Amino acid sequence: MIIKTQKEIPSSEITDLTVFKARRRFIKTVLASVVGATMPVWADNNKSRTLLPNNALVPTPIELVKNYTNYYEFTLNKEDSTKLAQNFVTDPWSLEISGEVEKAGIYHLEDILRQQTLEERIYRFRCVEAWSMVVPWMGFSLGNILKMAKPLSTAQFVKFTAIYQPETMPNQRNNVMLQWPYVEGLRIDEAMHPLTMLAVGMYGDTLPKQNGAPLRLVVPWKYGFKSIKAIVKIELLKKAPITTWNKSAPNEYGFYANVNPAVTHPRWSQNSERQLGSGFFTARRQTELFNGYSEQVADLYRDMDLRHFF
Ligand code: MTE
Repeated sequence: MIIKTQKEIPSSEITDLTVFKARRRFIKTVLASVVGATMPVWADNNKSRTLLPNNALVPTPIELVKNYTNYYEFTLNKEDSTKLAQNFVTDPWSLEISGEVEKAGIYHLEDILRQQTLEERIYRFRCVEAWSMVVPWMGFSLGNILKMAKPLSTAQFVKFTAIYQPETMPNQRNNVMLQWPYVEGLRIDEAMHPLTMLAVGMYGDTLPKQNGAPLRLVVPWKYGFKSIKAIVKIELLKKAPITTWNKSAPNEYGFYANVNPAVTHPRWSQNSERQLGSGFFTARRQTELFNGYSEQVADLYRDMDLRHFF
């Protein structure tokens, strides 16, 4: 068993995060699951969790999170990707890191994971369609692997590309809805922010295929469409990439996509949200700027007009 402990996020940076985080040893069973075995992922005897102060987040019931998904490569229907994604091939999986970096390369996912210590982080997850969930993700800071590639000073943006696998993804085959593969992007400081993570699991298990296995982005202060699933390529760029949703409807989906109740989407008011799984009589939640993570991320946008850069 190989366990390498990455440099941890300084505790000063995480004290106030609504991050329900516990470092769990990256054990053999994780690696086994990454390479396709069917055994459980995280050892049962390693379930201890540390609840950070101010964390009042209660995870949404797992069945809801697993069966109410947006995965347009498979279907436009939130209930159907659970079944349709099952033939999707996630093993073997490699990730290309290239562009404005000193050390470009193609890495096998299991090699990347061998070098990471997984963290569990409970984050709010807010979709632009005005529903929200709370999800305990398992993964590591995106910044860890970006640093591994040694970004050059010219690297200003990060582009993420999802897999193109038309044999198993029906809407790619038929060119339905969006241009494929799915592409997303972040500014470099957003990508390096300690809240930004690459997830390989949720609820203490590997990611279900319909939720983005084997590797997805999670950026908790942005709308869910930024959280690209099934990532195969990360490029560091001088200029902002053209992203899938921005290209398809620029007036609806900005590059930044920060959760912001003051910027209304043409089809959904962003003022409040339906909290999935909270019960029929539960009131809608007032949406918060940056999805409640202002304290951690507002500085990134200090001098920006967020109505313009939505
Ligand atoms: N990533 C890919 N590759 N394809 C997609 O269709 N949908 C996005 C995002 N990532 C999507 C994707 C959208 S619109 C949302 S809201 C979230 O994934 C949904 O994540 P979930 O299905 O795990 O809730």
